[in-house]
Formats: sequence, structure tokens, C-alpha cells
Amino acid sequence: MCGIVGYIGSRPAYEILIKGLHRLEYRGYDSAGVAMLTDDGRLNIYKSHGKVADLENFCNAQDLDGCAGIAHTRWATHGEPNDINAHPHLSRSGRIALVHNGTIENYTVLKEALEQQGYEFKSETDTEVLVQLIEYVMLTNGCQLVDAVREALHQVIGAYAIAVVDTQEPDTIVAARKSSPLVIGVGDGETFLASDATPIVEYTDKVVYLNDGEIAIITRGKPLKIITADNESAEIDIQTLKMSVSQLEKGGFPHFMLKEIFEQPRTIRDCVRGRIGNSGSRVTLSGVIEHADVFRRAKRIIIVACGTSWHAGLIGKRLIEEYARIPVVVEYASEFRYSNPIVTPDDVVIAISQSGETADTLAAIKLAKERGAFVYGVCNVVGSSIARATDSGTYIHVGPEIGVASTKAFTGQVTVLTMFALAVGQVRDTLDREVAAKVVCSIRKLPELIKQTLKLNDKIEKLSDTYTYVHNFLYLGRGYNFPSALEGALKLKEISYIHAEGYPAAEMKHGPIALIDHELPTVVIAPKDDLHEKIISNIQQVKARGGSVIAVVTKGDTTIAEIADHIIEIPDVPESISPVIVSIPLQLLAYHIAVKKGCNVDMPRNLAKSVTVE
Ligand code: G6P
Repeated sequence: MCGIVGYIGSRPAYEILIKGLHRLEYRGYDSAGVAMLTDDGRLNIYKSHGKVADLENFCNAQDLDGCAGIAHTRWATHGEPNDINAHPHLSRSGRIALVHNGTIENYTVLKEALEQQGYEFKSETDTEVLVQLIEYVMLTNGCQLVDAVREALHQVIGAYAIAVVDTQEPDTIVAARKSSPLVIGVGDGETFLASDATPIVEYTDKVVYLNDGEIAIITRGKPLKIITADNESAEIDIQTLKMSVSQLEKGGFPHFMLKEIFEQPRTIRDCVRGRIGNSGSRVTLSGVIEHADVFRRAKRIIIVACGTSWHAGLIGKRLIEEYARIPVVVEYASEFRYSNPIVTPDDVVIAISQSGETADTLAAIKLAKERGAFVYGVCNVVGSSIARATDSGTYIHVGPEIGVASTKAFTGQVTVLTMFALAVGQVRDTLDREVAAKVVCSIRKLPELIKQTLKLNDKIEKLSDTYTYVHNFLYLGRGYNFPSALEGALKLKEISYIHAEGYPAAEMKHGPIALIDHELPTVVIAPKDDLHEKIISNIQQVKARGGSVIAVVTKGDTTIAEIADHIIEIPDVPESISPVIVSIPLQLLAYHIAVKKGCNVDMPRNLAKSVTVE
């Protein structure tokens, strides 16, 4: 949550900073701000509540001079999203400006101590405390910016990625991180920094991922320097980005979400590339093969994740239990970390995270490692904190996901978990060859099957007219598709603000059936599988009570076609693969309803894509 950008070089900083903020807007869009530092030490600082576009409008008439600067887009934690609480924050004298992503947990103690020294605070934020503390240390110790930052951070408890400038040192930006991400882009005579690589990629593909506890000293015309909290020089590991600018643009689609839904034939192809061959039933996941012993002796798997990733985890449980025959539990990372969980060295913990930065998932990993478990990551963002904190893992490789509601990352996660279950089954010799061959063959066909399923778009767009103004929705599914029901309901809720609940179809009669009337539509996920007859009864129970049913069925299912109000036909696939296909019409339904309601689908209210606070 919150995105930060920085630049120092010879070009005007403003355009780079604003463009960078647009790229990071998925991290928060409550308010935004920029500070440009001129060569002669003037600070041009502008802030605005609302989105980055509001800041841009405000800046149009301002002095935007300066070839160095820092910028911020905020997801509010401390203090309401107004102009005063927007970053950058200034020190008392106005010479130091700072942007911050994270939470300073002991900010009240620090604030009280500074107040006793006569400091006054303009905002309600934890961040202002940090910038005042840096100036206090600087004046008390008579030191330069970098030492003041290092010393101040020793007093801070919490999570931070910060970028700081001082008008007295106009050629320098100091940046630091702990538990919040920070990437530095190394250009030719210029340096960039950002919460992720997306604001950097169009200027340079050379990046350094700052490690926890490190401080970067970025000085115009000098090589990058990184030190530890103890003032030791740290190694600089320059990596090459494999991202392209076109991946970060809408490519003719009205929203990133729709673009990302339509990208799925390609993203799933990228996800399986090199992992299953053109023929045969073998799955090659290096993360599993290199640790075959760990998976052979594992007694249990614990999946930790949040949000959509947790739904993927529920599908992963069924896949792993089916193909690798290891018992699996799935935990919300936020609950797991505070539950004093029983974790032993015989456990493998799988952490699933699109962003690789979710604070609760990171904390769950730390705890699992302390208790001796082997931790396997399933992430999308290469080089992210979770990817680096895990012992092994598999990237889903679906490319940057910008729409706040996760779509292509979900199908990538489920696809990776399917391959993971098969790979571990191979290692443990629990896999029936014929079954494996059938599933691998379906994975191979997934891109084509998704392409066919996307042809439903026009039909679903029309269907969404009927449901734009309903207040509640029920989603039902069984077996592998119970988590699909949860995910379908979450998508609708996130972007259209319609209340939606996902339920195991057979549980409906234990409560939600009381809600059914002609105003409550029910989406029933009912592809042909072992429980098909049972779910037909569930549909009849809804119909008998006057509810309307939208059924997602296997092509040619005439039985359900006769009883449901609307049917959405998907291709015939094995049950264990069906959640990937089923999710396509559910994503489209949520998207079209939200668009018709006039909602901002890419930036739904109150949400952020990367949740780096607890
Ligand atoms: C936020 C996002 C969700 C996401 C969840 C977990 O709530 O809005 O789309 O599923 O965080 O994020 P992660 O990056 O760990 O998958």
C-alpha cells in the first residue's frame, strides 16, 4: 500500500515522477504528492487529495522545476486522505522532505518525545514524525542527511520504504527499506527508485532490489552506494528486468481489468512454458525437483495467503491432496500468524501472493521458518519480498497485473498449483499415470480453452443488463468449484459494491436458502462432474423459492438449460482444471455489472492491490 517514486539525473523530474505515480496507483489512490528539488536547493512541493490525475491538474499551473525529486501515492492508514496528510511531508525547517510506504508502529512515543522538544505537527500521519525525527537527529548530532536517516531509523519500529531529500544536499536522495519494497533503477547518469519496477522499466532495465535494513545513497554523477544500518558497505547486485512497457499499458482496452481478462490465453501459456512439454505427462518444476527430499518426507502442507490468493489456495488443497496425497490445510495468513500455530520441520508451507509483498503473508512465512518449516512461494512479482523470503518456489509469470481486482494472477496461481500437485505426486510416486496424462493434456490445451471461453463476453455483457441494480448475489459451487464460487462473489463485491456471498451448494439449505426470493439472483457453478446430479437439485431448490439462476454449465447440458433462467456454457474439461475455465465468465460478469453501474473497476473504492499493512 502506498507507492513511492524518486528520480535524480539531468532531466526534469516532474514528468518521470508523475508517470511513475500513475504506474503505482494500484497501490493506493487516496491522495498524491510530488517534491522537486532544484540544483540551487529550492523545493517545489505539491500535494492533493484524490487520484494522481487530481494532482496533475493542480500541478499544471505550478513551478515544476527540478531535476531531482520524490513522489507518493497514498492508501491512508493514519489520518484521513486530505491535502495535509498527503506526502511528501516536510521537516520543521522545511529543508527535509520525505515520502513513506509502511507504518511506523511506535510513532506516538516518538511524537511525544519530539513534542517535548518543542516540535509541532501539522498532519495526523506517522510519516511526519519520521521526517521531524530525522531533522532533530541532524541538528542534534550535526550530521549529514544519510547519517541522520540511519540514526533515526534505529529508533523506529515498524515497516518502511522511504525516500528523503534535503535542500542543503540537492544532489542526493537517501532511500531505505524494512518490510516494504524498494527498487532502484540504475540508468546512464541518472537513478530512479520506486516501490516496484513499473515506473523504472521505460528508462532502464538495470535494477537493484534493496534488502531489508539497507540504506541507498543516490548521488547525482556518482555510483550508487548502499550501506547497512550499521554503516557497513553492502553488496550491489544489479539485475536485468524482464518486463516491457507495453505490458503496463491498456493496449486498446477500456480498463486494465478487461485487458488482463483477455490476456489469459497468453498468460497461461507463459505460465506453463518450459514446465510441461509438447507431449508426455511429465511436469518439470525446478523448485520441486531441487528439493525432492523435502517433498518426499513432508507430512503436511500448510497454505497461507490472503484474498484471491487464499481462494487459489483452497483449490490447491484439493489438487495436492488428490495428486500428491499429502494432507493440506489452508489458512488466512492474518489468522495463522496470530494463532500460535503448530508447525514442525516436517511441514511445508506454501505462501501464495500475486504481489509478493502482502504484510500478513510475509509475517506468516517468517513464523513458519522460525518453527522449522520449509517455505515454498507462489508469486507473480519477480524479486518481490515473498519470492526472496521463501526457500524455493514457482513464479506464475503472468506479467504485471494492474487492475486492483485480481484476474489473470488467480488463473496463473491455480495453474501453478495444478502443476505443483502433479510434480509433487511424481516425486512421491502417488500419481496414476493415466490421470496425470489426462490432466497434463488439459493444461496444455488451457490457452485454447480460455480463448473459446472468452467468446462468451458479448453474451455476458448483455446478461449483465438484467443484474446491474440488484443488491445481493449468491454464488454456489461444489468440490473444486466451491472456491470458484467464493472468488466469483469476491470479484463482484470488490468492483461493483454489490453484496455477494459464495457458498458450498449443499450448505445453502443450512442458512442462505432463507434469503432466496425473486430479488436474489444465484450464480450456480455446475459443470459436468461427479456431483452434477446433486447440484441440479440445488438449482431446483432455488427455483422452487422464486429465485433466478444463472448457471455455468458444460456445453450441451440440456438438463440445466431447461431449469435455469440463464446458462453460460463453458468447454468440457476435467473437474480439476475446471476452476480456471469457470473463473473467466465470473470475471466477465463482475466486470460488466460494475462498468454498467459506473464503478471504477480498475481502482475500486477503499481497496489497494498490494497490502503492505496489517
Ligand atoms: C488485496 C488485493 C487482492 C489480493 C490480496 C492478496 O486485497 O486487492 O486482489 O488477492 O490483496 O494479495 P497478494 O498480492 O498477496 O496476492
